[in-house]
Amino acid sequence: MSSPILVIGALGNVGAEVVKHLLNAGVKVRASDMSEEKIKARFGSSVEAVRFDFTDPKTYEVTFKGVEKMFLLRPPHITNIKRDMYPSINAAKRAGVKHVVFLSLIGIESAKYVPHYKVETYLKEVNLQTTFLRCSFFMQNLSTTHRQEIKERNEIFVPVGKAKTSFIDARDIGAVAAVALTQTGHGNKNYDLTGSEALDYWQVTKILSEVLRREIQYKNPNPVYFLIETMQRGTPFMFALVMMGLYTSTRFGMAEPITTEVEKLTGRKPISFQEFANDYKENWM
Ligand SMILES: NC(=O)c1ccc[n+]([C@@H]2O[C@H](COP(=O)([O-])OP(=O)(O)OC[C@H]3O[C@@H](n4cnc5c(N)ncnc54)[C@H](OP(=O)(O)O)[C@@H]3O)[C@@H](O)[C@H]2O)c1
Repeated sequence: MSSPILVIGALGNVGAEVVKHLLNAGVKVRASDMSEEKIKARFGSSVEAVRFDFTDPKTYEVTFKGVEKMFLLRPPHITNIKRDMYPSINAAKRAGVKHVVFLSLIGIESAKYVPHYKVETYLKEVNLQTTFLRCSFFMQNLSTTHRQEIKERNEIFVPVGKAKTSFIDARDIGAVAAVALTQTGHGNKNYDLTGSEALDYWQVTKILSEVLRREIQYKNPNPVYFLIETMQRGTPFMFALVMMGLYTSTRFGMAEPITTEVEKLTGRKPISFQEFANDYKENWM
């Protein structure tokens, strides 16, 4: 029997897309997340559903048994990597996992204080073969984190000035991850993944306004006002702080560079923001 490919965070924005692309490639998938029932409800019997919790060692054995390759992500709320992620990485290694495709951040090489840096470094330290998918901002941030403000206030509230962002669609990241997990030659490679265009938020709101047939405005607060207002709207302090940090780096042009990795790896052009907006418009209706 061939060994299954494990997908951690299989119900998340990217994980669910990794599962879909792996199934399309005809491989056996073990999908893991916090709830086995929800995995079954989403993917039916097409996958082996397993409950996995980074912070619960009792879930490790059944998750990693017989696995050689896995897709790994850091759930956004996990910040103590040593305490909450090292133990499961050690368990994966002991169980025989050889290759890890890890969802990381573009520019991480020079951001040692960011949790993903610690994960990347540790995966290398324990001698796992790695593929780091270092991604730009997800288009899906607008259909998740910023969904409510677009839907209810007709605005996008981010402190990035006139800087551009080379947004990537999570569906493209899923496609790249599946390539790295099913084809040879991707071990110990780092891929900087972006979309094929960089847009400022006036361009983003123009596209959304046309697709939704109502005006969506770009509010461009200063970073401090962004932090205060985001907390007042209900976002916990730490999460709002991380958002402020990321958007401040965007403000200084850090999210503008465009790469061609998605096309090189999948053989097709990245999904455009226009396509994303059309496909996800129900979210903001
Ligand atoms: N957003 C961006 O623009 C961007 C750009 C580059 C990189 N990234 C990175 O991408 C990652 C997030 O990816 P995503 O958006 O696909 O994540 P996501 O949609 O938040 O999915 C994370 C999944 O992990 C599950 N989870 C939560 N706690 C867990 C635990 N203790 N053990 C096991 N699973 C757990 C969540 O379940 P519940 O829903 O039940 O909690 C959820 O299904 C982050 O590391 C982020 O920094 C994001």
